[in-house]
Amino acid sequence: MKEDILTKIPDMDYTEEAPVIDANEFDKVIRSRRSVRVYTNDSVPQEVMETALEHATLAPNSSNLQPWRFVWIKSEEAKKKVVEACLNQAAARTASELVVILARTKAWPSVKEKMINVLTKSEAPRGALSYYRKIVPLAYDQGFLNIKGFLKKIAILFIGFKKPVPRGPASYSDMRVWAHKSAALACENMMLSFRAQGFDTCPMEGFDEKRIKAVLGSKIMEGGSEVCMVLSVGKRADNGIYGPQIRMDKEDFISII
Ligand SMILES: Cc1cc2nc3c(=O)[nH]c(=O)nc-3n(C[C@H](O)[C@H](O)[C@H](O)COP(=O)(O)O)c2cc1C
Repeated sequence: MKEDILTKIPDMDYTEEAPVIDANEFDKVIRSRRSVRVYTNDSVPQEVMETALEHATLAPNSSNLQPWRFVWIKSEEAKKKVVEACLNQAAARTASELVVILARTKAWPSVKEKMINVLTKSEAPRGALSYYRKIVPLAYDQGFLNIKGFLKKIAILFIGFKKPVPRGPASYSDMRVWAHKSAALACENMMLSFRAQGFDTCPMEGFDEKRIKAVLGSKIMEGGSEVCMVLSVGKRADNGIYGPQIRMDKEDFISII
């Protein structure tokens, strides 16, 4: 096998112990996370919000380019507008807190520079630096009017006849999918974090994105931001969950080949 930046195992003197986790407690977190549509008037402590927001930033993400932003809507005026933009749905209206999760489709060049800075200071293996200097622009820069993406698509088609090759992202719509994947993983981190801290959430995509963007303003929305989800947070009310969790047979969704 020819060694390259992806296949070579770097020479590194670094280990990280995996702590022992109580699997039953984790199972409880997963199973008790439900989409809550009605919350009590209990407030969510600042530390709980901060922990969940930090947990969001710890989610795995593509090339560690962190294509997201988490906007905690604290101002009462902004909250009113976001609730309205969420179509006044009970899950938003009765929530103590709201967080808007953005997927940033065009912010990767600045994060890439930051990564290069961090890696340079930490004497990271040369492969990591060249990944950010060479491969990242090649993979994520689609060029003006998607021209680079289009040329990449043609090149990929021919290279792909001979060997496995990543087929994308090779267009702006691929970049949207790219950013939303990572942002959605961060949303899940946040939901599990709130649950583990004794609070509840509801992820929402039932909103008017244009209105939410107007509330957040152009500075927060820079970097080609799109609204991935709005997350409502609070303590579940007795009537907050609309019935037992419904899932189809596992066989419908799990395949083993
Ligand atoms: C991307 C996404 C968008 C959603 N949008 C809404 C929404 O706008 N309003 C709502 O009440 N629930 C929304 N939900 C919650 C789903 O309806 C809910 O997850 C599903 O019914 C399963 O229920 P459970 O979360 O309690 O397991 C959304 C969930 C996801 C993942």
